Amino acid sequence: MSMKIRSVDLEKVIGITSQVPVMETKEIAFAGRSNVGKSSLINALMNRKNYARTSERPGKTQTINYYRINKGCTEEEFAPDCYLVDLPGYGFAKTALSEKEKWGGMIENYLHHSENLRTVFLLVDIRHEPNEHDCMMHDWILANGMDPVIIATKKDKINRSQVTKNLNIIRSKLKVKDGTPVLAFSALSKEGLDEIWKVIKDA
Ligand code: GTP
Ligand code: MG
Repeated sequence: MSMKIRSVDLEKVIGITSQVPVMETKEIAFAGRSNVGKSSLINALMNRKNYARTSERPGKTQTINYYRINKGCTEEEFAPDCYLVDLPGYGFAKTALSEKEKWGGMIENYLHHSENLRTVFLLVDIRHEPNEHDCMMHDWILANGMDPVIIATKKDKINRSQVTKNLNIIRSKLKVKDGTPVLAFSALSKEGLDEIWKVIKDA
């Protein structure tokens, strides 16, 4: 199953000093370290190559970007009318400390004030153990009363035999609550996209 996309629009971009806007329909947010693949996943969902701009260099997305999909669309075979919200990546080593604090503040502010936020996907790289930034992000999401769905990205970069083991490491390092989904995804093969759509539809 791949959901049909009728329209895609980068409706709003907000910077560090902006107030979190009240949007007119439900929001699904994507958080995670710089370079983990947030914009790539959003492109896969929107069925576009590079509408959400991606980069090999970390620190590409430095604003909160609201992508409206299927505005006004209610037909069953289409993806639901919602915002896919691309959050700035954290943990980018080359960023000055003051910038890092601003980003953290911005993400926390978003989690706290977005009235229509239904689901937060927390992305981590399937190859690596989550670090302290990932654990902090996970804690912020829980502290704001949300139950995250964890997505382990870049599944194509590891051997199939490693997948379960790595998902378990991610689960235990983040101290994921029982019942919280931890899904593997590849933006290259699109493996895992159906499960992600299911979460968005049910949100
Ligand atoms: P920031 O905007 O810096 O926070 O990064 P981001 O999380 O939006 O990452 P982005 O989507 O720009 O991807 C970073 C790099 O990883 C790009 O070179 C992507 O092509 C690559 N990438 C993303 N997802 C995958 C994947 O599933 N498999 C592989 N092999 N590469 C991926
Ligand atoms: Mg990005």
